[in-house]
Amino acid sequence: MTDARVLWITGGGSGMGAAVAVQAATDGWTVVLSGRRADRLGAVAEQVRAAGGSADVLPLDTADAEAVATARDVLLTRHGRLDGLVLAAGLNAPERRWDDQSMADFRAIVDTNLTGVVAVVDAALPSLRVAGGTVVVVSSYAGWSFQPGAGVAYSASKTALASVVRTLNQQGAEHGVRATHLCPGDVATDFLDRRPVVPDAAARAVMLQPEDVARAVSFVLEAPPHVRVDELVISPVAQR
Ligand SMILES: NC(=O)c1ccc[n+]([C@@H]2O[C@H](COP(=O)([O-])OP(=O)(O)OC[C@H]3O[C@@H](n4cnc5c(N)ncnc54)[C@H](OP(=O)(O)O)[C@@H]3O)[C@@H](O)[C@H]2O)c1
Repeated sequence: MTDARVLWITGGGSGMGAAVAVQAATDGWTVVLSGRRADRLGAVAEQVRAAGGSADVLPLDTADAEAVATARDVLLTRHGRLDGLVLAAGLNAPERRWDDQSMADFRAIVDTNLTGVVAVVDAALPSLRVAGGTVVVVSSYAGWSFQPGAGVAYSASKTALASVVRTLNQQGAEHGVRATHLCPGDVATDFLDRRPVVPDAAARAVMLQPEDVARAVSFVLEAPPHVRVDELVISPVAQR
């Protein structure tokens, strides 16, 4: 069993998940990165190692519950423990309104944003109970307050994450398990390329950067074990 705390990060190959990986490794965690694109995971793992940290990759589609359970088994075989989750895997589609969405997109978004998050927590929970683990669910500003542009599936799935976190906290507390509903406003990542109107460089420059969110996640993960951050909303000053 590794001495270092082990953090499983979904969506770890880009954006906020990648920034969290770099920050958490600096804080002393061994980071295990999951996402569908193995090359992206490998590049982030290399970046972590180049900075002196410890990283592993587990390519995974979190919408596939069987694959999630298998990945959990591989993680535990390799590392022997699991102390934290950062669930940043997320999807949206440009066609997101009632008048242009497809049910195929709706299902794919809910499968990743909601069911995929629940699947990873479900698979990890026995180990998290042993460790007194910490779960950070990367939800959205749209999971905290209604955002007209966010879309039907995205708003519904992210809003539901608030309940996922609350039930987890209510039932996990006796095992020292704590969870955070993290609600970022606009963050300059590839995610914005899926908006119906893609923001330009000037718009992205006044948004949060992935590293801003990684610092907030670090604050949550490094809080003393008796401290729980139930919900954390973080937005750029420019957010409307
Ligand atoms: N950017 C924003 O303004 C913003 C604001 C609030 C909240 N968020 C949320 O923040 C989270 C991270 O997004 P980001 O902004 O950092 O964008 P991003 O770089 O596009 O990250 C999303 C990540 O999720 C992974 N992913 C998507 N579907 C997956 C699946 N089924 N299984 C495994 N991995 C999957 C993607 O990797 P693969 O494609 O390789 O699988 C990607 O690495 C998302 O949950 C998003 O909803 C974003």
